[in-house]
Amino acid sequence: MAKTLSTPAPRPIVGAERVDARDKVRGATRYAGDARRAGMLHAALVSSTIARGTVTRIDTEAAMRVRGVRMVFTHQNIGAFDTGGFLMGGGFGFQSFYPLRSAQVAYRGQSVAMVVAESLEAAREAAAQVTVAYTTTPFVATPDAPGAEPLAQAAVLPQPMFADRRVGDAEAALATAAVTVDLDYHLAAQHQNPMEIIATVAEWDGDMLTVQEPTQNAEGVRHGLAKQLGIDPTKVRVLSPTVGGGFGQKNSLQSHTAIVALAARQLGRPVKLVMTRAQLFHNASFRPATRHRVRLGADRGGRLVTAVHEIDQQTSRHDLFPSMGTEVTSRLYGAPHYLGIERLVRTDVQTPGYMRAPFEHGAAYAFESAIDELAYAVGRDPVAFRLANDAAVDPLTRKPFSSRHAVECLVQGQEAFGWQRRTMAPGSMRAPDGSLVGWGVALGLYKAATAPAMATVRLASNGAVQVAVGGHEMGQGIRTAIALTVSRALGAPVAAIEIRLGDTAAAPQHLTAGSWGTATALPPVMEATQRLLDDLRQHAGAAATEPGATAVSLLRVSGRSFAEAKSQRLAPGQPEQAFGRLTGGLPAAAGPVYPDFVGFSFIAHFVEVRIEPTTRRIRVPRVVSVADCGTVVSPRTARSQVEGGVVWGIGATLREASEADPRHGGFLNANLAEYVVPVAADIGEIEVHFVDKPDLRFNASGAKGLGEVAMVGVAPAIGNAVFHATGKRLRRLPLRLEDLL
Ligand code: MOS
Repeated sequence: MAKTLSTPAPRPIVGAERVDARDKVRGATRYAGDARRAGMLHAALVSSTIARGTVTRIDTEAAMRVRGVRMVFTHQNIGAFDTGGFLMGGGFGFQSFYPLRSAQVAYRGQSVAMVVAESLEAAREAAAQVTVAYTTTPFVATPDAPGAEPLAQAAVLPQPMFADRRVGDAEAALATAAVTVDLDYHLAAQHQNPMEIIATVAEWDGDMLTVQEPTQNAEGVRHGLAKQLGIDPTKVRVLSPTVGGGFGQKNSLQSHTAIVALAARQLGRPVKLVMTRAQLFHNASFRPATRHRVRLGADRGGRLVTAVHEIDQQTSRHDLFPSMGTEVTSRLYGAPHYLGIERLVRTDVQTPGYMRAPFEHGAAYAFESAIDELAYAVGRDPVAFRLANDAAVDPLTRKPFSSRHAVECLVQGQEAFGWQRRTMAPGSMRAPDGSLVGWGVALGLYKAATAPAMATVRLASNGAVQVAVGGHEMGQGIRTAIALTVSRALGAPVAAIEIRLGDTAAAPQHLTAGSWGTATALPPVMEATQRLLDDLRQHAGAAATEPGATAVSLLRVSGRSFAEAKSQRLAPGQPEQAFGRLTGGLPAAAGPVYPDFVGFSFIAHFVEVRIEPTTRRIRVPRVVSVADCGTVVSPRTARSQVEGGVVWGIGATLREASEADPRHGGFLNANLAEYVVPVAADIGEIEVHFVDKPDLRFNASGAKGLGEVAMVGVAPAIGNAVFHATGKRLRRLPLRLEDLL
């Protein structure tokens, strides 16, 4: 018998919820790829089948005969357009290379043509019928291929932030240390694979261009496009109110956006491009492959004396994507000697980029795995070893930390996990079903960064509140954090608050990345809200002190239909010129080093693995994570961030690898069937705790950052647990069953 399902009445949203949850679960949230415009055409990309060379001929005749095809654009007919530059080289894009500006092929999978048709089906059918002839040039597919030369980052990127990091004399201290380890770690390249695929909808209204594209950097896309098309930025609006996962893949101007806008202009109709999943693997950034060598030295008493961390990181032929892993490993412990060296290795790929904890995940994997080996070498419990080596001040600058609760993370986590029941010897713990049990721990940290932002808060006499600020909602919960903050300050229900994000017409939209979103958006929103309240009280006169007065009641007393207040804030110690970078679409974030302090978030992960004795299948039934992110502004989305970071950490450690093709270049497993990520059944219990101590030295909200630190240290905690279960150190991610046999 069929059950009668009644539609529940909409529930009022209360403080602990995610403000956009209801729309999401009903499928009401609209993403760029969902956009429909009158007369809209559909685009499809044609990808290069060679890894490096030149296009000599493109045959578009068959494609043009497909019914509904309007145009096949190539470098020969799209017209001249400018480069958008490279984000880390003064420009706007994830790379400096923009396909279709010439006949050059820089990597396999690069776009060489774009079909535009009346339907998606026609566009894709025609794209498959474009034939391209090339001349080829030798290429380098992977950073360990013959011909791949490591370049010293300090020499090729001569800026202080990319230099070697030195405290004391680490090499000399290694030579005399009582106990040393010297270890190599290898991490495969990985791709973000957000659920929402990159899509672009470009529409012209006269000389005004509107672009809908999921991005973490609407202002950068706007200014980059204006430069590429040679038009004034006031003629471009970029809209990205909801992003279905960014993870760094959507942090800048994409290399295809301008050609969609050009096609729309040439054809006089809106054009929508939705990439395929396979094209995402080759047309957007990814986490580069890295190698790490970690040398550590300790005294017999278990004091870490010296550390040398060397990193080789993959980059592209056309850009130097900087490596920053030693920014965190230099701050993990208080050793008197530290040396961090980074090198870049050119390969023929699209430029790799930022992927959640882009450097910190890999650097912490190597360093925290080595620390575990060192703890065993000196015969100390891995938690006790870490507690004994905490840093009192920043080892590199000798400045204080704005706040540092790494020890609390370890102590709380140890307690919650039941660590005291652990026996030290590898292979000494067993589950009732005979599985090998391993318990591992690791620390993570991530810079507390912040960027300039401008906010407007407006209250209408009907009680509606509108907040406009720079920030992008990628699912991490920034809208909820802002809504809760404004709701608490104004006494307004969350449902009455509309938050305009990711719209260049609402407020300047600085790149939201580096876990700085909350600490960037909240201070100006809080200040604007306070100014609004002050203004309401002033206008309300005596009524302001009456019991039961609310923001709306005060507004009504003053007889105005609305009140509005603004604020603009910089990062601590940042010069005013940073506002110019913000409004110009350029990155303007500061941190982790500020004039009076150094800012980092911390986390401790405790992991249990169970390993099936014959197949060596690795399971992670239980993780306890304790984070120090300053104030927890939105408990529900904060918890979700840590759970997501742990899940991704499990995937990054046990599943994910982008397989480079040494014969033809590019990535072989460019789909979600072969690029393996965990499923729900792979995930056990994840217990999340927060230290929740406000960092008011860092900013008025007390929040540091959480999205990325959540993932840092998961991989070494799993690897250390695998060692504890089996006695084997694998030192290569992902960890493979065959390596345990
Ligand atoms: Mo992130 S990888 O800083 O978008």
